[in-house]
Amino acid sequence: MQTNEMIRSKEPYLVGNGVIVAPSILSADFGNLDQSIATIEDHADWVHVDVMDGHFVPNLTIGPPVVRSFRDHTDKFLDCHLMMTNPGDFFEAFQQAGANNCTFHIEIGNTGDLITQLRMLGLGVGLAVNPETPIESAFEYLDLVDLVLVMSVHPGFGGQKFIEDAIDRVKMLQTEIESRSVSTLIEVDGGVGISNVAKLYKVGARAFVAGSAIFGTEDPGNACDRLRSAALA
Ligand code: DX5
Ligand code: ZN
Repeated sequence: MQTNEMIRSKEPYLVGNGVIVAPSILSADFGNLDQSIATIEDHADWVHVDVMDGHFVPNLTIGPPVVRSFRDHTDKFLDCHLMMTNPGDFFEAFQQAGANNCTFHIEIGNTGDLITQLRMLGLGVGLAVNPETPIESAFEYLDLVDLVLVMSVHPGFGGQKFIEDAIDRVKMLQTEIESRSVSTLIEVDGGVGISNVAKLYKVGARAFVAGSAIFGTEDPGNACDRLRSAALA
């Protein structure tokens, strides 16, 4: 029988200088998505895809068919953030569409089974934690998942203000990751930009989702480069 450990991803997530810039496509022009991807293609590390079901969060966005279209336009790592009550019903569809990773929320429960389902499909596994959920609740899964996504806004919409508490939460998570000697990646999502990315990097975050700070600028490619430099400053 396959255990989680046996089917654990062997691909290290860290690339290049150890900073992963993941533009959130939610803030791009939905009428012109192939062009939006083209602007960041040579500058971003991942593409972050926000999937909202109108139930877990009060907003409705995109699903597997759109991920399939992204896959037709880019070889980038497609980092799918599933803000859904029943993400497991769609894991296979995302895998078929070309997703590399699915991140689901710890708040919906059934975490162990969902991790196993993703592993069986060969997808990367992410666990997202909302701002009001104790970060300690993710600790028991640290050796089973590839990344923990620390939400620094309440999920549902782009363009919100960064919740400063996220910095301490990343720090606590990183301390626990070190004490367990695991290599779980910390990703931060919501209100991330030039003003806070270095602080997040310093306490252990290595993947940075940014929507408005990238697609809200005249030159999204350049905004990716500036965010990466700012993290390391
Ligand atoms: C929020 C989403 C985020 C969001 C980030 O629910 O998960 O990925 O699009 O957008 P900004 O960077 O504008 O907060
Ligand atoms: Zn997201």
